[in-house]
Amino acid sequence: MPDDQVADPGADTDPEAGAHGTLERNPRPARWFHAGVYVTVLVLGATGWWLLLGREGSPSALARATGVSDADLHTVTGWVLAALVAVGAVAGARGWRTFWRESVRFRRGDGAWFRRWPAAVLTGRFGRHEGRFDPGQRVANLVLVATLLALVVTGVGLALVSGGPAFVWLVRVHRWSTYALTPVVVGHVIIAAGVLPGYRGVWRAMHLGGRLRTTDAQRVWPGWTERQERRRRR
Ligand code: HEM
Ligand code: HEM
Repeated sequence: MPDDQVADPGADTDPEAGAHGTLERNPRPARWFHAGVYVTVLVLGATGWWLLLGREGSPSALARATGVSDADLHTVTGWVLAALVAVGAVAGARGWRTFWRESVRFRRGDGAWFRRWPAAVLTGRFGRHEGRFDPGQRVANLVLVATLLALVVTGVGLALVSGGPAFVWLVRVHRWSTYALTPVVVGHVIIAAGVLPGYRGVWRAMHLGGRLRTTDAQRVWPGWTERQERRRRR
């Protein structure tokens, strides 16, 4: 992979990157669903950690801004996320099937991709993989789905049950899922925001029109990009 695809500081504003130099990565419904999930998850993460650190007595900046206590803000946002997941599961059943199929499929060669990954986040010289998602994304997807489902199920339980042994277990699972989810979300946001040179430009895959530069797509998802290009030429 030529270095200039990564190192060119003017690449993001390249006038050549018009309709021909870009590819649609995620369709509009997926982008809106993703935006809804991340707004709610960011609020839930902030208020959840506030409660976990025992700060309930002193309202957070979010609680002060909204005039609602952190616990109530957390629970209301939790219901919104639960509703989003329920609607998304029904209305987006086909998208979910594709997402799941593409996330559980690991292939020979993925180990080599992981070995090259730490350096590649800086150089952009990722190992080759054939998936729609790179092997790191596939692991992240499985962790995110498992922990978010656990948080929604136990969170709804916490909102409905008040005390007793069930409550103790629900809090325990809710808390451990938070520990597992948090580093993966932080890592995902750092990677997907495109601040690391290897991932430059990928934020466009999920924002605005969902189109990213073909050169960025080729660097991060080479097999997928080549399949898309072949389909377009046909
Ligand atoms: C990203 C998702 C979520 C995260 C990171 C998260 C995190 C947390 C954390 C860390 C706590 C404090 C536990 C403790 O005190 O030890 C908590 C409490 C709670 N969570 Fe969540 N949570 C999430 C989603 C949800 C959802 C979807 C609901 C569903 C309504 C929910 C309902 C609750 C309730 C009712 C409490 C107890 C609040 C209280 O102290 O009154 N959470 N959450
Ligand atoms: C806070 C909660 C968030 C969750 C739970 C979440 C979850 C996901 C998931 C499951 C995917 C599918 C593929 C993948 O693993 O990359 C994804 C894709 C993506 N996310 Fe997020 N995300 C969150 C926040 C964000 C934020 C704040 C950004 C801002 C930069 C972002 C940018 C992206 C981008 C650009 C993609 C597209 C990657 C692709 O096309 O493969 N995400 N997200």
